[in-house]
Amino acid sequence: MTSELPFTRTPHPHPATPERVAEVLAKPGFGQHFTDHMVTIRWNREKGWHDAEVGPYSSLSLDPAAMVLHYGQAIFEGLKAYRQPDGSIASFRPEANAERFRASARRMAMPELPDELFLESVRQILAVDDRWVPSAEEESLYLRPFMISTEKGLGVRPASEYLFVLIASPAGSYFAGGVRPVSVWLSTEYVRAAPGGTGAAKFAGNYAASLVAQAQAAEKGCDQVVWLDAVERRWVEEMGGMNLFFVFGDKVVTPELTGTLLPGITRSSLLELASDLGLTVEERRISTDEWEKANASGELTEVFACGTAAVITPVGHVKHAGGEFDVADGGTGSVTAKLRERLTGLQHGHVADAHGWMTTL
Ligand code: PLP
Ligand code: COI
Repeated sequence: MTSELPFTRTPHPHPATPERVAEVLAKPGFGQHFTDHMVTIRWNREKGWHDAEVGPYSSLSLDPAAMVLHYGQAIFEGLKAYRQPDGSIASFRPEANAERFRASARRMAMPELPDELFLESVRQILAVDDRWVPSAEEESLYLRPFMISTEKGLGVRPASEYLFVLIASPAGSYFAGGVRPVSVWLSTEYVRAAPGGTGAAKFAGNYAASLVAQAQAAEKGCDQVVWLDAVERRWVEEMGGMNLFFVFGDKVVTPELTGTLLPGITRSSLLELASDLGLTVEERRISTDEWEKANASGELTEVFACGTAAVITPVGHVKHAGGEFDVADGGTGSVTAKLRERLTGLQHGHVADAHGWMTTL
């Protein structure tokens, strides 16, 4: 895949030493360490997309009146590249991230980055920072493309200048403490997204708006917030950076896409993998009442969260304003474990890629 726009390449003058790279890859954590380079592409109304560059990872320079700092036009994506058993690198469904990035841009009145430029950016960073892709199980190179408005001005309107950036970060487990069941707080005081709002976009403001509820969850001793619908405050939507699945024996249910939750790429992949495993899949609304009652009756056997960063994480305990309960026995269920094994096996190249999801750019 090539793009029409040429990318200039400026190597980092002082790249990390091999010892430093090995030290980071030995314990990458999440989002703490970044590779030597980044990709930038500019957009303005006259030239469209231009000045595509691969250069040293460095600070950005912005005018204090840059519109993103005031009115928040900022979107991002998250995808991962995995070291394959033969040493090559493959990324998981980058075309889907490219498409969702365009959808987020449309919602925020920002210019759409053509898919071939998105994919070429991924190809460029992987080519230049190949040595930063970990090979350990559970590890990958997390890619974070984002776009901000850079035009100087305080008028409230869509900006006429933007900057696209792609940075990359070696990643281990998203949650400190590795893969273990998490506890969740059902938020009825705060809402994440309302009908007609920005919930389906990967828009920075959605995350800013979630932080006070995340802090509340932490105060209640929980790891994460579960967001409910804004209108009735009883339909389960998603978590701060993950979608949710409910397992009823051999049936898996995930909240339907109502326009107020993020259409997760892991979510849509798991719907297909669950079918492959012979499970029945359903996309429908599920209420907090059903969650608690089906759990008490034993009908609900497992709940898990899923996303690029979080992979598949079991939900072991639920707290809400009126009480709390363990999900089944509070541990990791067998369907959760099976789906996790299938998904991560596929991503790391140990399971046949029947859906053609792994892309070598
Ligand atoms: N929901 C939210 C709010 C997210 O930020 C994410 C992470 O990207 C997800 C769900 C899961 O989406 P994906 O599986 O595409 O990573
Ligand atoms: C991702 O999984 O890529 C996310 O964006 C979730 C979170 C880190 C915000």
